[in-house]
Amino acid sequence: MTSPYFNLSGKTAIITGGSKGLGEQMAYALAESGADVALVSRTQADLDTVSAAIHAATGRRVIGVAANVTKDAEIQAMVQAVMAEFGRIDILINNAGIGGTTPVHDLSEEEWDRFMNLNLKGPVLCSKHVGVEMAKRKQGNIINVSSLFSKIVARYMAAYGATKAALVSFTRTLALEWARDNIRVNALCPGYFDTPMNHEFWGTKGGKGIISKIPMQRVGDPKELKPAIIFLASDANTFMTGTTLFVDGGHSLVG
Ligand SMILES: NC(=O)c1ccc[n+]([C@@H]2O[C@H](COP(=O)([O-])OP(=O)(O)OC[C@H]3O[C@@H](n4cnc5c(N)ncnc54)[C@H](OP(=O)(O)O)[C@@H]3O)[C@@H](O)[C@H]2O)c1
Repeated sequence: MTSPYFNLSGKTAIITGGSKGLGEQMAYALAESGADVALVSRTQADLDTVSAAIHAATGRRVIGVAANVTKDAEIQAMVQAVMAEFGRIDILINNAGIGGTTPVHDLSEEEWDRFMNLNLKGPVLCSKHVGVEMAKRKQGNIINVSSLFSKIVARYMAAYGATKAALVSFTRTLALEWARDNIRVNALCPGYFDTPMNHEFWGTKGGKGIISKIPMQRVGDPKELKPAIIFLASDANTFMTGTTLFVDGGHSLVG
């Protein structure tokens, strides 16, 4: 018999940045576990393609809602669109984010704002507006996708690391504020993963240098995030809030 804990049937989820990369894998994971899913990104064509593929693979209802999650009005419209379609929101995964390295000497105000707006303001505003709907039902589950770099530091990652550390702090504060409304808020902290964007890099001298520092001596396969997100999204953790879950091959142990 399969465990009832990880069955997401009857639940609905929003995944920002669900059209690509790790967010797409998370969307598959939730739909495979029975959830209906709303994917959010700025590019409707990508959303339509991925929604159709996930629906075909899982049979779940999957919709794509275009919104820029750095814009308050677009987030509100997105939440209304999801409510109109699904009637409830059980799970919010704040995943949309950017990475990148820049020495602080070269960090422009525009670049700093781009990191802060997408990686931090976006999750704050999405939580705020989805949280209104969750609070009405006294039930909700928010997962903020932070990073290994919320805990460790590396040269040239000041902006990225600051946003991801702040996102963990926001996670803990929001968990405290909303516990009385039965809204759980936790953070997922992925380490290095092999994605189409960085696949070539792992064979280079720089990539091998990073891998040599990871205790498990390899980067992750994006599929290895799927069980972690199912666990966080499920009712297997109904007494867990304000925590961070690292999926990083032990990298956060050594910095
Ligand atoms: N990849 C890794 O190894 C890794 C490791 C640790 C943590 N993370 C974190 O995991 C998350 C996903 O990373 P990823 O590498 O999978 O990203 P990705 O492949 O670059 O995908 C980013 C997603 O976010 C969407 N997006 C970007 N800007 C947006 C905006 N303003 N409004 C709405 N959607 C927007 C993109 O679609 P559009 O461009 O069409 O909007 C896309 O769907 C990020 O928070 C990242 O920091 C990743």
